[in-house]
Amino acid sequence: MKKLIIANWKMQLNYRESLNLATKFKTVLKNKKSDIVICPDYLALPRVAEILKNSSLKLGAQDSSVSNRGTYTGEVSPLNLKDLGVRYVILGHSERRLHFHETALIVNEKAKAALCLGLIPIVCIGERLSEKEAGSTKKYLETELRRSLKDIKLRRATDLIIAYEPVWAISGQQFAHPLLAAEAQKLHIFIKNKAEKILGHKVKVLYGGSVNSNNANNFLSQTEVDGLLVGGAALNLKSFQAIC
Ligand code: PGA
Repeated sequence: MKKLIIANWKMQLNYRESLNLATKFKTVLKNKKSDIVICPDYLALPRVAEILKNSSLKLGAQDSSVSNRGTYTGEVSPLNLKDLGVRYVILGHSERRLHFHETALIVNEKAKAALCLGLIPIVCIGERLSEKEAGSTKKYLETELRRSLKDIKLRRATDLIIAYEPVWAISGQQFAHPLLAAEAQKLHIFIKNKAEKILGHKVKVLYGGSVNSNNANNFLSQTEVDGLLVGGAALNLKSFQAIC
């Protein structure tokens, strides 16, 4: 099965840089073995959508609102994202939980709103260092899955994706380092089994956190790692090309 590689550009590029990188990705990432999704920031989305038109690269957003329309100053409607050609939305990234106090309840509402429109939510979950050190990773993941996926029943397994990103592994965190690939394999099995009970289907689970061109293959060679969510290394043409 093809692996899915998601580039999460976060807020790391200015407008021009986003367009330049999207143009380069389009040329260089043709005929790759993986499916590739690019998630630029909102401002760059419309132009990046035009750049990626008629290419095999798909478009994703880094978040979306719980509502399609209304008096929600500053929010971005999933309906408008869909109109732009966005196929995937990252939801509940740990940076949104940390800096913008996003809870599993909000993630759940956003995922339902996206699913209603046929957008594919990429629901992020991952334990913090404190949970890891307390030995409560699995307990935390299970609770997060139950809350974030509450009352969601999928029609098809491909309608939703989970990204497992241990918060302590994401670059930018102090002493961030990737999880061991064998550990990712075990936790992906755990997540898939728990999520299947809720969703009614076995969904794809991606790994994220300090992935780079040197370690990507360790993860991708694990049978239960269905792909990668890449931050820092997706800002560099050569490294992202190597990962894909
Ligand atoms: P990183 O980010 O690859 O830079 O660690 C991953 C993410 O935050 O999605």
